[in-house]
Parts: sequence; structure tokens; C-alpha cells
Amino acid sequence: MVDTAPNPVSTAAPLPDHSVVPAVWSRITNLDVDRGEGSWLITRDGSRYLDYSSGIGVTNTGHAHPRVAAAIAAQAAKIIHSQQNITYHEPGLRLYDRLRTVLPGGPWQAFLANSGAEAVEASVKLARVATGRPAMLAFRYGYHGRTAQTMALTTAKDVYRGSFEPLPGSVYHTAYPYCYRAAGGAHSPDACTCDWEEQLDLTFHQFIYPDRVAGVIIEPVLGEGGYVVPPPGFLPRLREITRQHGILLIADEVQTGFGRTGQMFAVQNWGVEPDILVMAKGIASGMPLSRILARADLMAAWKPGTHGGTYGGNVVSCAAANATLDVIEDEGLVANARERGDQFLAGLRALAGRHPAIGDARGLGLMVAIELIKPGVGDGRVPDPDVTKRIQAEALARNLIVLTAGTYVNVIRIIPPLVTTADEIALALSVLDESLAAARA
Ligand SMILES: Cc1ncc(COP(=O)(O)O)c(C=O)c1O
Repeated sequence: MVDTAPNPVSTAAPLPDHSVVPAVWSRITNLDVDRGEGSWLITRDGSRYLDYSSGIGVTNTGHAHPRVAAAIAAQAAKIIHSQQNITYHEPGLRLYDRLRTVLPGGPWQAFLANSGAEAVEASVKLARVATGRPAMLAFRYGYHGRTAQTMALTTAKDVYRGSFEPLPGSVYHTAYPYCYRAAGGAHSPDACTCDWEEQLDLTFHQFIYPDRVAGVIIEPVLGEGGYVVPPPGFLPRLREITRQHGILLIADEVQTGFGRTGQMFAVQNWGVEPDILVMAKGIASGMPLSRILARADLMAAWKPGTHGGTYGGNVVSCAAANATLDVIEDEGLVANARERGDQFLAGLRALAGRHPAIGDARGLGLMVAIELIKPGVGDGRVPDPDVTKRIQAEALARNLIVLTAGTYVNVIRIIPPLVTTADEIALALSVLDESLAAARA
């Protein structure tokens, strides 16, 4: 078992009060972090926390992986900013080259930006310019970012868009197959009763002609919306429908990418090839970098200067991304995500057998979750955000950091770094077991 006892490491001067940070940054913890090592965060007072948030799905290679940190330091000592409109740089060229084959199909070309939302924005611009069509289609429960365009695509939760009308137009939403919440049926992906295809057809008949739709954007596994894994036939069928109508399929893999679901990209779990793949988070182990991948012929639709940005493809971030890809390959992190994910999900299902507040335990790779309900109330699936919050707090009190998700904030979502070990997962499961018991007490 891992020792989590405090062991002060920092004698630095007191920090300014937390109130210097604006409240718009809603808080998961009040920890003052000093450093990170693998799956662990160490605070200024020396306490160790098992970080199963991974900085919201970013630190796939673990905190401060020595090879990534060395690549960043070496690059920063040479040049920090080498703007893409002005110069080429070696880390960037190497990265562009590697990205051509990072996903089967293609040949792919990348556009590099800084954040997930910025890459989603780029995918919308490219879809519109490449098809000459105006509209975008997104899925209910989806999350794509907090800029104006990405808010318009997002419906995961009221706070993400509720106060910001008017939002950019020509964006429509249709049903995601959230099997656990489907009417009737067994509520599981294997016996799914979701009517997403009828709902999509209705959307085309009630809101927007399919030949006016430039792109459909989809999270292959829902993130903020509740870590929902779709039924097996969903993405292949969506691919068929989009092809039939000449609509570009945009996979938002900002959270699911880089090994998270046990494949390099989640679409590979279903053998689906999107037209545009959006990625960020795990790409550079925490350095700001994002990108879209599209077929070279599609990318050619973008005339020089119609898109860009000062920092996109930052040279230090590119060096971090190259080192991150090396670590993912050399340490077998995609396979580890699959194996450790199976272990975690089996453990969560065992907890569900003992704790009636768990309505559903689900996940793919190291993207796992439990959905909390009020047992014996209503149809047996009434969301329980209060118990969810208490479980998160009880876990934190036991040095485990987990996040919440879901429209009703009744999902505990768990995003370990892909370097996590079997022992760490066993520890997290026993902490969750205790936290569930304490939260219901
Ligand atoms: C699926 C998905 N898309 C887009 C984004 C936005 O990324 P960023 O926060 O880097 O703008 C996120 C962030 O959580 C995400 O999970």
C-alpha cells in the first residue's frame, strides 16, 4: 500500500490568500500543490494525493514525467517561441510528420493550436469552408468548450451556456444514446433502447436539411456529460449516415484521445474513421497544445491566412508532444490503459453490488465512472448530486482526487494517468468503498 502520510517538503514563504483567484474558477479542492510525480500530487505541507483527475484528463504520462520534463527544459533553453507564420522549427516538423500516421486512414494533416476549444473552433471553420454548408450538428450532453462557438455546441450542463445567450447560430442538437437513461429497456449498451436514429431523422425533418449541415461533432465517449459509453453500433451507423448526406464527421477526442480509452483514439474502438479528429489535453502532458487532424485534401480547402494564431504549435509544446508520444509508445501506455481500465471497471461493478446508491458503473479504458441515484425512489434512476458531492469530499479527505460529471452532477468520474499501477487502483477502489459508506452514513 502507498504511504500518504504528510512529510513537509516546502519551507517557502506563506502564499497570498486564495481569494486573489476569481471565483469563476469553480474549485475541486483547496490544495496548494508543490509538485507532482506519476499518479501523485504533493502539497506544500508534504501531503500526497492520488490524482485521479489527471488535471482533467491531461497528464496521461503522469505528472512531470522525467523524459517530458527533460524535453521541455532542453527546448526552452534553445528557443521558446518560434512563430508558425514566420519560421519552421524542428519539434514542429517532427510532430507534423508523426501525426500523418497517428491514426489509420488518411493521409492526415494536422493544424496545431493551443486549447481544446480552439481546436474545436478550427474544426467548425474547416467543416464550413470545405463543404460550403452553414450548419453544425452536435449531441445533447456533449461538451466542446467555453468559447462562443463551442458553448453553442455544448449542452452537457446548464452552467456552460445558460447565462450567455445569444450564442452563435446554425447549431442544432440531437439525441446521444445515453443507454442508462433511455426509456424502458435494460438501460445497458448491450440491450440499448435509445431512439437516437429516429431523433436524428426528426432533427433533419424539423430543424435543418441534412444537405445544409457541414459537420456533426461527437464525443465518442461522453466526457463532461457523464462518461457515457455508446452502444456498439452507434458510431459505425453515424458514420454511414453522415457519408450518405455528405456531412463531415468530427470526432472530439479532446478527452478520449492519446490512449485514454485503451486505443490511441476512441474511434478506433469501433473501427470508425472520422473526417476531422480534434485533440488536446493528453497530447503534450500538460503543455498547452491542441490540434485537428483532417485528410490532406480537406485541409487544402483552407486558404492561407483564413485561420491561424500567435501561439499555435508552440515550439516547447511541440517538444513536449514528441516526448509524450515517445513515452506512450515506449511504456506501452495504451495497453496499460486497457488492462488497468478493466481492473478498475470490474472493481466499480463489485462496489455497485454492495452500494445501492450506484445506479450504473461504466467506462472504457481508464475513463471510468459511477452514476449515483436515490435507491428505491421514483423509477430507480433519480439522480443524487448531494451524495455524489459527499463521496467526492470523503475521497478527498482520504487523499484521493476524483471529479464529478453529468448534467445533474451525479456522476463520479475517474481519470487516472495512464501510468497508474494495479496497486494504486486497488487503493483507489478501497478509498471509494469507504467514501461511499461514509457519504451514505
Ligand atoms: C471533449 C472536450 N472537448 C473540448 C474541450 C475543451 O478543451 P479546453 O478546456 O482545452 O478548451 C474539453 C475540455 O474538457 C473536452 O473534454
